[in-house]
Amino acid sequence: MKTYRIATIPGDGIGKEVIPAGRQVLESVAASETESKTAFRFEFEDFGWGGDYYRQHGVMMPEDGLNALRDKDAILFGSAGDPHIPDHITLWGLRLKICQGLDQYANVRPTRILPGIDAPLKRCRPEDLNWVIVRENTEGEYSGVGGRVHQGHPLEVATDLSIMTRAGVERIQRYAFRLAQSRPRKLLTVITKSNAQRHAMVMWDEIAAQVAKDFPDVTWDKELVDAATARMVNSPASLDTIVASNLHADILSDLAAALAGSLGIAPTGNINPERIYPSMFEPIHGSAFDIMGKGLANPVGTFWSVVMLLEHLGEFDAAQRVMSAIEFVTANPTLHTRDLGGTATTAQVTEAVCKQIAATSKASLTTA
Ligand code: IPM
Ligand code: MG
Repeated sequence: MKTYRIATIPGDGIGKEVIPAGRQVLESVAASETESKTAFRFEFEDFGWGGDYYRQHGVMMPEDGLNALRDKDAILFGSAGDPHIPDHITLWGLRLKICQGLDQYANVRPTRILPGIDAPLKRCRPEDLNWVIVRENTEGEYSGVGGRVHQGHPLEVATDLSIMTRAGVERIQRYAFRLAQSRPRKLLTVITKSNAQRHAMVMWDEIAAQVAKDFPDVTWDKELVDAATARMVNSPASLDTIVASNLHADILSDLAAALAGSLGIAPTGNINPERIYPSMFEPIHGSAFDIMGKGLANPVGTFWSVVMLLEHLGEFDAAQRVMSAIEFVTANPTLHTRDLGGTATTAQVTEAVCKQIAATSKASLTTA
């Protein structure tokens, strides 16, 4: 039987609640097909990196931690962030270290309004909002280049340099055009700010136009990032696949998640498209310390990330079954967690999704 090696990194806060839930869903989907020829199983290794590890060892993950991840087929990540440790330390010491170290340059963020979710836009029907944001994930505004001099003195200077390389821009544009091509509408919007950022963003635009020539069947346009926020609200159906720089996409994807009804639902894949390194899947919601340990976290963002993980492994049938189970559960308001205005717990939602997966397995359908 095919075995996939999965690293789980719960990280901090509610990551410790949603990642075990995600693992349960992966185990359910594997267990539901043990009889079939296409059966597969998972071998999990859990890594207790994050804020607690930092308090003990002074680092968020061990120096050679990346080596432990290299031979995995995929990584399921919870969140990094701790109220007692500066955010730039938790971020750079763990998540960005993994994304940059394993060259996961394409961050993919699908957004849809799932059944039963009350999204905030008045005139937006669920079919009007079906986007995938492709975020450049290894350079740009998050390249980490910069520094501070004269610290604490009136002369102090601080810089954060946005680095864009031709190779880095070209590979993310190519990824986005390919993804747009694979979707029914074959529609791509390239987010830019080349009116104000007159060097790197102008190169970004030029490269988009060059890459576009290799995708004659993809319709594409350019949108300034500020105008894009208004367009997302006023004309959501005019968008499908969206590609943006690291910071622009960070901001647009929070807006996208909110317009789809909750940050608790949105998933992400940090993808190394060449598959030289494992890719990493995570909910976008963060560590949410205010509700941590109470069993209130919405696990749907993790479950949808599990769907992306299964798709990445090529297990499309299993991915589809998990997605259908998620949609079956979101359609039922008694299974909504607090972020969606409900009272359901993480455990109740997880149990309902696992039950639905079992109920829709090939075995159960043929014996029914
Ligand atoms: C995200 C998050 C992170 C980011 C935070 C936690 C630093 O907002 O994944 O979008 O900015 O990349
Ligand atoms: Mg963000």
